[in-house]
Amino acid sequence: MIGGDGIGPEVVAEALKVIAAAGVVIETVDYDLGAGRYERTGEVLPDSVLEELGGLDAVLLGAVGPPIGSTTVPPGVIERGLLLRLRFELDLYINLRPFKGVPGSIAPDADFVLVRENTEGSYAGEGGALRRGTPFEVATQGSVNTRHGVERCVRYAFGLAERRARHHVTLVHKTNVLTYAGDLWQRSFDSVALEHAAVATAYSHVDAACIFLVENPARYDVLVTDNLFGDILADLAGAVTGGIGLAASANLNPARTGPSLFEPVHGCAYDIAGTGKANPLAAIRSAALMLEHLGEVAAAERVTKAVLELQTEMAGSSEAWSTAGVGDAVIRRL
Ligand code: IPM
Ligand code: MN
Repeated sequence: MIGGDGIGPEVVAEALKVIAAAGVVIETVDYDLGAGRYERTGEVLPDSVLEELGGLDAVLLGAVGPPIGSTTVPPGVIERGLLLRLRFELDLYINLRPFKGVPGSIAPDADFVLVRENTEGSYAGEGGALRRGTPFEVATQGSVNTRHGVERCVRYAFGLAERRARHHVTLVHKTNVLTYAGDLWQRSFDSVALEHAAVATAYSHVDAACIFLVENPARYDVLVTDNLFGDILADLAGAVTGGIGLAASANLNPARTGPSLFEPVHGCAYDIAGTGKANPLAAIRSAALMLEHLGEVAAAERVTKAVLELQTEMAGSSEAWSTAGVGDAVIRRL
């Protein structure tokens, strides 16, 4: 467990409550990681901790990072040094983000899964700065796309589409402008499609995908895209389907050479930390994704069903829900 910063520990506590109520016994180890630990000790992710985490079955994470504008933790220290390091070093190459619109949201008919490549693209860290702080400074930030990385991501998306009812997968990119990376993605997609004759395919440019996610999200079943487009689309998808407080994610190592990591898509929300207002449903659904990955499929289905039902109930209610109250309500539905 990495509760982390801000509302992270509060929402993870509800997720643990629900796992126990679902009848799944898990042994947990708490790891003190995040901006808080960095401020106290200067440590981000000691190698020994990374090694320990690598030996576990799964990691459940709340949220990590400093408040916006922090003067003590520079941007990127925790994001790159902790979260992205875990994604890269544990080879969590799929970031799976399911979305289902709630009644009254902008996209109530949405029911799709975003498959975000999670180890490459603009997140890889390629680039650098020259003559920084001078009038002639230069900054480059490349996007790294390997055939291996793209193909394994696309292959996962097709496999997922095969297991879902609609058998449909859409590639999202910007092939008309990002011609080198786009070409690699499109050809990888087309070649994997040949192995999956039962899956229908489509393509959206990322800007058009932003329109469709708002106006006609029912056209999407599985979306597959690169790391940065996936990051941005996930927040949009969360906003239009009922709010980022519902958006769950699984950072998967499908090869199972180590643990996978499960976390809500949202951040630390320092503005409401400690007030009992944070919605724990994203963390609880992330825990359900974890249970599914660990083979506790029946419990995972029960928790997911309870979460989805409660989302609908909450969308139509004017009650002031508390973090613990939402956790309790999920448990009642179980
Ligand atoms: C997410 C987050 C992270 C990302 C940040 C915190 C590094 O926004 O999981 O979507 O950009 O991937
Ligand atoms: Mn994000």
